[in-house]
Parts: sequence; structure tokens; C-alpha cells
Amino acid sequence: MTHSVPARRAAAGPWAEQTIRGGIVSQHLAFRGKATRRLTAIALAGLIPGLLAAQDQALIDEGETMFRRCMSCHMIGDGATNRVGPELNNVMGEQAGQGHEDYDFSDAMIEAGENGLVWTEETLDAYLENPRDYVPGTKMTFAGLRREEDRTAVIAYIASFSPDYDPAATGDGDGSE
Ligand code: HEC
Repeated sequence: MTHSVPARRAAAGPWAEQTIRGGIVSQHLAFRGKATRRLTAIALAGLIPGLLAAQDQALIDEGETMFRRCMSCHMIGDGATNRVGPELNNVMGEQAGQGHEDYDFSDAMIEAGENGLVWTEETLDAYLENPRDYVPGTKMTFAGLRREEDRTAVIAYIASFSPDYDPAATGDGDGSE
């Protein structure tokens, strides 16, 4: 029995000191308290990324519904082709007005891209709020999405088809090595 005391003390770590005075019972309780808190922290740390992923997925699903407003002109995903507007695969992180199987962009959009417009969460949010305000002369005849939540959701959906998009990097997408 005497043997178990130093073993416990070692396992209890820095808070073992008070337990020498308090005896075995309080040591045991103190240890249990710490251990429980630690286990809770570990459990939460495992749970939070899972919750975030679920939230992301919910937002993407919402964006898929919102994308119906774009589908009269745009396709996205496997087999998407240009229609009235360009297909939107890999558009995030890309320079505006270029690529997409040589889609025939307006001069306004090509120029905006050449002047440095790259599609990110921020720029796409501004464009979708009021396309013709943000890129005067754009041929996207779409009134815009008034609600910020709607824009956030549709952007999350579009970003899910831009697997190489790195929001931290936002390259200029001008094709130069
Ligand atoms: C009425 C047709 C129409 C609708 C609806 C529409 N777009 Fe467009 N979109 C266009 C056209 C046309 C262009 C090309 C603009 C240009 O060249 O000026 C374009 C361009 C874009 C671009 C820029 C692509 C690039 O590579 O630079 C994005 C991004 C985009 N649209 C997203 C959307 C989203 C998201 C929606 C729905 C919320 C939407 N559009 C609704 C017609 C439309």
C-alpha cells in the first residue's frame, strides 16, 4: 500500500504537492478533477473541426440552392461548358475575364482582369452584390444578390469547385510562371 503513494504522486504531476498535505483521498479527487478537465478539452478539440466541416457543408448546400439563380447563364462541375456566361470551375483565385475555354468576355471584364482583378471571396462578393457597379460595362446582365448571406453561400459553393484555390495566396492568375 505504501508503494502506491509515490506512484500516484508521480502521475499527479505539479499539483501533487497539495495532496501530500491533504492525503490520499484529496489527491485522488484533485487528480480526477484535472483528468476530467483534460479529457473534456481533448474531446472538444476533436469535436470542433468536425463541427466546422459540418457547417462548411451546410453553407455549400445552401449555396447550391442559391446557384439556381446563376444557372440560366452558368454551368459548374463535371462536364460544365460555357453558355451565356463562362463555366465557373476553378474560377476562384483566377484573374477575371480570361480562360474558360476561350469564353468571349466583354472588353470591360478583360480590362478589369488586366488591371489586377482576381476572384476571391472579397472581390466576388462585391461583384455579385452589384455586377455592373463593380465592373462597369460587364455583359453579365444580372441584378445582383442583395443579401450578404446569399452571396456568402453561393461563393462557398463556387469555391468547392476550385480545389486549387488558396485564399491566403490569391495569386494574380495571369499565367506567368
Ligand atoms: C443573365 C446571365 C447571367 C446570370 C444570371 C449570372 N451571370 Fe455571371 N456572368 C454572365 C456573363 C455574360 C459573364 C461574362 C461577363 C463579362 O465578360 O463581362 C459572367 C461572368 C461571371 C463571372 C466572372 C468569370 C470570370 O472568369 O471572370 C463570375 C464569377 C460569375 N459570372 C458568377 C455568377 C454567379 C455566382 C451568378 C449567380 C449568383 C451569376 N454569375 C449569374 C452571365 C450571367
